[in-house]
Amino acid sequence: MTVVSYDAVVIGGGGAGLRTAIEIAQDTSLKVAVVSKVYPTRSHTGAAQGGMNAALGNVVPDDNPEAHAFDTIKGSDFLADQDAVFFMTEKAPEIIYELDRWGVPFSRLEDGRIAQRPFGGASFPRTVYAADKTGHVLLHTLFEQALSKENIDFFNEFFLLDLIHDGGRVKGVSLYDIKRGEVIFIRSKAVVLATGGFARIYWFRSTNAVGNTGDGQAVALRRGVPLKDVEFIQFHPTGLAKTGILLSEACRGEGGYLVNRLGERFMKRYAPEKMELAPRDMVSRAIEFEIREGRGVGEGARAYVYLDLRHLGEEKIKERLPQVRQLAIDFEGVDPVKDLVPIRPTAHYCMGGIHVVDYKTSQTSIEGLYAVGECACVSVHGANRLGGNSLTELIVFGKYCGQAVREFVKEVDFLNVSEGETSTGKDLIENLLKREGKESLAEIRAQMGEITWAKMGIFRDEKSLKEAYEELSELLQRWENIPVVDKSKVFNTNLIETLELRNMLELARAVALCALNRRESRGGHSREDYPERDDKNFLKHTLVYYENGDLKIEYIPVRITKFQPTERKY
Ligand code: FUM
Repeated sequence: MTVVSYDAVVIGGGGAGLRTAIEIAQDTSLKVAVVSKVYPTRSHTGAAQGGMNAALGNVVPDDNPEAHAFDTIKGSDFLADQDAVFFMTEKAPEIIYELDRWGVPFSRLEDGRIAQRPFGGASFPRTVYAADKTGHVLLHTLFEQALSKENIDFFNEFFLLDLIHDGGRVKGVSLYDIKRGEVIFIRSKAVVLATGGFARIYWFRSTNAVGNTGDGQAVALRRGVPLKDVEFIQFHPTGLAKTGILLSEACRGEGGYLVNRLGERFMKRYAPEKMELAPRDMVSRAIEFEIREGRGVGEGARAYVYLDLRHLGEEKIKERLPQVRQLAIDFEGVDPVKDLVPIRPTAHYCMGGIHVVDYKTSQTSIEGLYAVGECACVSVHGANRLGGNSLTELIVFGKYCGQAVREFVKEVDFLNVSEGETSTGKDLIENLLKREGKESLAEIRAQMGEITWAKMGIFRDEKSLKEAYEELSELLQRWENIPVVDKSKVFNTNLIETLELRNMLELARAVALCALNRRESRGGHSREDYPERDDKNFLKHTLVYYENGDLKIEYIPVRITKFQPTERKY
């Protein structure tokens, strides 16, 4: 089997992975590998539409990093670690100007400065954007920068199989080459996991790319690395009704309304000041309440309310929201210039992820193992992320993680790896290809989607979460009997989807367990049986990890440095 060595290997070719790799590669004596299961420009960062937050103060000069920090912490329902939030908001302006110099074509004000639009939960127009294609242009610019580094090698269309460490330090990763059907091992002094989120566990309805299956988180979990706060899932208020495809928060930032079947702007009942620009957890719940009370259109899982953009006018819609318009035309058959757009909340983002123990470096509990972007939990989003803070997070923490990795790998030698360690991935693939059984991949995946949506979705309770945990555990057992029917070597998507399903099932089960144990409502975690936030018992982060084959939970304190928790009103 092929074994190669790199000073650092970054798993993930989206915004977080590329930004980290670019920074490590500043030292041209280092060899860096970027591994991506898709061609990097197809990574999910490209789907980000509305923008990224930084207190530039270009529209309202009063804006500043402390105001950005306060909004983020309040938005997080006070679960974010405040020192990490301040780190992000203070660094945010410098990373925007750096991206600007690298060529990201940000939309501009009349006077040529970078434009900023209002976004949910923000006190000022703070979201920097490129029409409604911010993630797309960001990803392409980062890829260009990464391609220009001669010391970065790309392993495109390689799937992460396993992570090897000795309990103290990382040793490398096992990968499956999707194009050739071969397993390789990369021996490395540092591994950065940047594999994105896992909101595809909501297979029924999600904004996420089908590849957002949490491969990095699942491999880390299986290898004893704790995950943090995974019970907090964000549902984006405006998914297209039929498909769950994202319609950017920029629609409401630019002045769009949400209306029910009766034509009422119902947000006045739920967030009288901020209205449609309340944080996402609140807006999503408000839409679901309207539907429950019969003020939506239709009934059950297919019911919806409307997004109304018509008053913005054709010119503004075409200039600021061209992708939104096209998506509504292509997938819902309506033109926002003249029609109401049917929408409903859709699973969008995972606030939780791999437990980062040091926000300045993004190091995890294993030396040499780092996590950045949605794959990680730093934690800057706490129980609910503000729109526009995701791209900011991945660029800020990617940059500073890259700096830390650069320093770390210069200080240490490679660790020895045994033949047994390098061959775990190969054994996994061989066993999977030999496996016989009568279960169906598509059926188990669809059942997972139904359970996650119905029993651990926007609203949860003790009964639904217990059932979800038990049913997902059973599906995980049944996964062992899914045969890989396609035995071919080249682009065996049957094999990859089987591996991805295991990852999703393990993560979904961890979400159910953590949600079951958090007996309060906070941010995106809304327990109908415990409707209040309970700071006395639950102002703490959840850690989940495997011990002797079972999932275990423990809690660690939230770092509160400046803002004491108060009731969250908008
Ligand atoms: O609505 C959006 O454009 C998504 C932005 C985000 O998730 O930050």
